[in-house]
Amino acid sequence: MTNKSIVFIGFMGVGKTTIGRMVAEKLGREFIDVDEEIEKEYEMRISDIFEKIGERAFRDKEKSVITSLCEQTNKVLSLGGGAFLQEDIRELCMASSYVILLDLSFEKWKERINLIINSRPVLQGKSLAEMEELFYKRQEVYAKHHLKVITDGHTPGEIADLIINTVIEKGR
Ligand code: S3P
Repeated sequence: MTNKSIVFIGFMGVGKTTIGRMVAEKLGREFIDVDEEIEKEYEMRISDIFEKIGERAFRDKEKSVITSLCEQTNKVLSLGGGAFLQEDIRELCMASSYVILLDLSFEKWKERINLIINSRPVLQGKSLAEMEELFYKRQEVYAKHHLKVITDGHTPGEIADLIINTVIEKGR
């Protein structure tokens, strides 16, 4: 097992934070949620940052937070679902860390909409068809990863175990 950080990517609401936290605990590593770091820096919720300062400023902050986190090792990071839209972030994470894509089918994702809609400004005001379009469009930027884990039908604990086994098997 190397000391590279593990970075979780994937669409909003797929379980990056829940599973990331479990993996970190099992590996005895520190877990850092990038959105939480940004909220701490601004002392505001993400939805307020989008509303009051704008998405551009959020994306710039997202890049600077991820850039400094990627200089560290031995962490488990959860990135916001839009972070990989920025090529610099994709390249940096792929070069410095072990990137894991959490993949959920749109059918299963739909069941979670009510749980996440209020805290995700990117989804506000969108019809289900528009959300579906965004879901599939985003898959293009998630194509860059080291490991893809399909989460449909599995509990977070099962997925965390699978990841640990894979990461250890790969000698990381
Ligand atoms: C976003 C995803 C969110 C958060 C912000 C924007 C996106 O993170 O960074 O609301 O553009 O997909 P989660 O993926 O943790 O929901």
